Amino acid sequence: MDELTVNNLLGVENLTNNDFELIFNTANRFKEVINRPIKKVPSLRDITIANLFFENSTRTKLSFELAEKRLSADVVNFSASQSSISKGETLVDTVNNILAMKVDMIVIRHPHPGSAKFLSENINSQIINAGDGTHEHPTQALLDCFSLKEKFGDLKGKHIAIIGDIIHSRVALSNIFALKALGAEVMICGPKSLLPKYSRSLNVKVETDLIKALRWCDAANILRVQNERMNLNFFPSTREYFKLYGLNKEKLELIKKPITILHPGPINRGVEITSEVADSENAIILDQVENGVAIRMAVIYLLASKIKNITN
Ligand code: CP
Repeated sequence: MDELTVNNLLGVENLTNNDFELIFNTANRFKEVINRPIKKVPSLRDITIANLFFENSTRTKLSFELAEKRLSADVVNFSASQSSISKGETLVDTVNNILAMKVDMIVIRHPHPGSAKFLSENINSQIINAGDGTHEHPTQALLDCFSLKEKFGDLKGKHIAIIGDIIHSRVALSNIFALKALGAEVMICGPKSLLPKYSRSLNVKVETDLIKALRWCDAANILRVQNERMNLNFFPSTREYFKLYGLNKEKLELIKKPITILHPGPINRGVEITSEVADSENAIILDQVENGVAIRMAVIYLLASKIKNITN
């Protein structure tokens, strides 16, 4: 059987083209499974997975948990606010205690960039990064690319714009790595204050004019304004942000062509996107959410296959 080149999913930067193909093909199979009346396979009944969320989440947390349950894994959920972390226990001690209870795999979301990599270097378990601060969100990029491939087929030469709060976004960085690996042309667009200083080193087009970005792209991934990561004022007011960068029907009408709209969620309706656009037929936002379960099933299944003899 083909296998992933990596033992942990810490980011998409180091995945090979074969890894992407294997994940997407496996996700296609699992998407068929989760649309059956009985949405489960017995593949991971010998595996126990702990979901460690040190940051709030709706989509990623539920999607991982559903993916694990659809694969018949045993699941334990850990929420930082109710744990002994508040009593001074270190991350490594916490995770080692969880592993002592015979847990096989760790899914971690953490506010600190590099936390998933740090864990992978200090504990003896497989790790999946479910978002580490402003660094990477690999399963989000995989599900975004999978959803775009469903729409366009091959992504080679497709123009994909990532729009909004790039500087605070782990979704942007993972998407840039994944889209470029799959042959797409990538543009980032936002106010100068929300574009990272290292933008040019990412080898992507950089634009501050939203209408120009919309005219250029086949699909636009609209990012949430991440107020929780802003300790300064990055723009004068929400009203001004919406006027210049909020996606609405009037701006889309100016470009006189349909484009596909993505959003990783959660959406701030009326800030980065209007309801009219988010709920329009060109938006694939709920397809992204559906595909998230299939992608996470694929990643968990392929990683688990590297440590256990798994049969379907
Ligand atoms: N897209 C995403 O990561 O959403 P959550 O923060 O709800 O998990």
